[in-house]
This record gives sequence, structure tokens and C-alpha cells, in this order.
Amino acid sequence: MNVLITGGAGFVGSHVSDALIEEGHNVILLDNLSGTDSKKPTYLNARATLIVGDVRDKKLIAELVSKVDVVFHFAAKVGIAQSNYQIKEFVGNNCVGTAELLEAIVGVQKRPKLIVAASNTSYGEGLYACTKCNAEFHPAIRSQSDVNEHGMDPICPKCSSKAKPIPTKEDTPLDTNSIYALTKKFQEETALMIGRMYEFPVIALKFFNIFGPRQSLSNPYTGVSAIFTSRIKNDNPVVIYEDGKQTRDFIYIKDVVRACIMAMKESAINYEVINIGSGKPTTIYDLAKILYSILGKEERIEISNIYRKGDIRHCIADISKANLMLGWKPETDFELGIREMLEWAQKEKAEDRFEQAQNELRDKKLI
Ligand SMILES: NC(=O)c1ccc[n+]([C@@H]2O[C@H](COP(=O)([O-])OP(=O)(O)OC[C@H]3O[C@@H](n4cnc5c(N)ncnc54)[C@H](O)[C@@H]3O)[C@@H](O)[C@H]2O)c1
Repeated sequence: MNVLITGGAGFVGSHVSDALIEEGHNVILLDNLSGTDSKKPTYLNARATLIVGDVRDKKLIAELVSKVDVVFHFAAKVGIAQSNYQIKEFVGNNCVGTAELLEAIVGVQKRPKLIVAASNTSYGEGLYACTKCNAEFHPAIRSQSDVNEHGMDPICPKCSSKAKPIPTKEDTPLDTNSIYALTKKFQEETALMIGRMYEFPVIALKFFNIFGPRQSLSNPYTGVSAIFTSRIKNDNPVVIYEDGKQTRDFIYIKDVVRACIMAMKESAINYEVINIGSGKPTTIYDLAKILYSILGKEERIEISNIYRKGDIRHCIADISKANLMLGWKPETDFELGIREMLEWAQKEKAEDRFEQAQNELRDKKLI
């Protein structure tokens, strides 16, 4: 098959490209290299055709779409906190980019199948259960005054007692926490809507926190495992927002790639949104501890107790739909994945820009 990957020079796109090429498909990568410091990454598969260009280039995207059977739409500007002050930049890349891609698909005779990278951030907070009221609820994003009044954890809206995070299902309303998350919601919903309307297959894979080799070690705005790794490699302390007990669902890149390939081949899941996560919570504090222990370095963890505006406390994937409809489940043990990532990271240059990012957040009054 002929496959186009927008954002194909990035972390996820490059791994999916390798797997597709391994299976004998022809792969075109469209990337403006904005996520790779304008450089062509050395890890790109030599058998993939890289087109350096923007998904918003109407003529280019129309030409590329006309040549392929499948499009993976991964092109996006990423970074939650940063998106809240670079609003135009995020909306331009992610929303206008998706709009151009969809117009291009609608405009060709033989419309390709579209697999769009959605994001767990679009849920905002995950689902919670109150054992006292025996009820599930989906809290709104915490405000600074919520945190000041009740502490970091969301509380039951009925009885105000501490609630327990539970796996988040795909039908949970999208109550986004940032401009980035809003643009991901736009990408997901617009792709599904236009696909249904014009009858071309669309699937939204809702990725949770992906980690693995090739994730940027110098982008301080995204990928907490990569940010911490960069701090440790540069002999700087790991700074944790809140109290470190907030959890994330970390999913290894190889498992994500498998889900992408399975979604490409499966025809019974058109117009579905499918969570792709591990289904397991890991606290941010435990993540830092594991990184230090595998790297064999003395622990320097600073718990800042600072609430970063818009951050969520917990969101863990319910992966039963992926298992049922796609036959997919994660296979990589978390610690094994971290070891593989660190093995790669040891040889990579990691520019630690964390403090610069933190100063920006302070200037913008987001922490
Ligand atoms: N990595 C994660 O944990 C995660 C989680 C949820 C969703 N996602 C989504 O998965 C996709 C891939 O993420 P990633 O981690 O590989 O990010 P990445 O930054 O490594 O890759 C994105 C690529 O898109 C390119 N790009 C951005 N704007 C573009 C444009 N206008 N035209 C052409 N190329 C453009 C960038 O140069 C970059 O190479 C993104 O859509 C992201 O929102 C990622």
C-alpha cells in the first residue's frame, strides 16, 4: 500500500514508518521539521520518501493525498502549557493543518483511509468514583482556588469526599485543559465528522503518554519521561509539579506502533475512537525514581508543590475497547520500555531547557 504520514519525521511517525516499510509498504513522510529544530533526523528510514513541507500547503497536500491509500495524520504542534500562550501557532498548525488535509481528501477521486492521532488530553481529567456515594463522575479541570480549598485531588461533587481515579472510557465527555487539547479535540471530531459525511474511513486513536527512543530530549514542553531524562543526564535535579502523586498512563512506542498498523488493516472500526494506553497508573514521583535507579545516579528530586494551571491530576485509559474491537493490548512492561528508552538516550544529546520553559510559565502567570 502507499501510505502518507503527516508529521512523519517526528517521534511516533518515524516509528510507524519503520514498521510499514518492514511490511513492504511505500511510505511518504510529510514534515515541516518544526518539531526537530529544522533538522532532518538521522533516525529516518532511508527507504521512506521525506517531503519537507507543511500540511497547510494546499497544492502539496492535495498532490500527496491523491497518491496514497492510507494517511496517518500525526502532524501537530505539541506542548500543553506552551499552547496556552502560543494560541495562534497551535491553532494554525493543528486545526488549519487538519482542515487543509480534510479538504484535500474530500477533493480526490479515490479517498484514502485516515487514521488520526487523538490525545488523552482532550478528556481533561479522567473518570473518578466516589465509594461513599457509589457514583462515577468526571470532574472539571481544577482551578487554583479548588487546589487551595480541597488540596490537589478532585473531590466528589455530592459529598466532597476524596474520590478514586478509575479507567477513562471513550464516551467520557471531552472537557479539555489547554489549547493543545482543544486542537486535538478539533482534529479528532472534524476528521470523524467529515469522514462520515463523505463516506471515507476514519479512525481516531487516542494516545495516552507515549514514551520511547526518538522522543525529543530537548523539548521542555512535552513528554515528562524525556524531560526528566534530560534533567538527569545534565546533572540537574528533577523538578516535580504538585506533590508527585499525580498519575499518568505511560504507553511504550512499540505498542503504539502495533495499534497503528492494526488500525490500518482493520475495516470494522471505522469512525471509532479508541484509547491506546497501558491502562495502568504510574505516579510522576515513581517515574523519576525509576529513571534514577536505572541510570544509577544519585536521586535529586525536588517536589515543588506548585500547581501548573490546567494540569490534570489523573487520567488512565480504559483499554477494553481496543482489546475488543482491534484485538490490541499492550505487551511491553513499563520498566523494560524505560530501559530501552534510556539505552537510546545515553547516546543522545540532551539540551536541558527546563528552566527556560519554567520561566516562561512564570512570566505568563501559569504557575
Ligand atoms: N507523544 C505522545 O505522548 C502523544 C500523546 C497523544 C497524542 N499524540 C499525538 O501524536 C502525534 C505525534 O506526536 P509525536 O509525539 O510524534 O510528536 P512530534 O513532535 O515528535 O511529531 C510531530 C511532527 O509533526 C511535525 N509538524 C508539526 N506541524 C506541522 C505542519 N504544519 N506541517 C507538517 N509537519 C508538521 C513536526 O515537525 C513533528 O516532526 C501528534 O499529533 C500528537 O498530538 C502524541
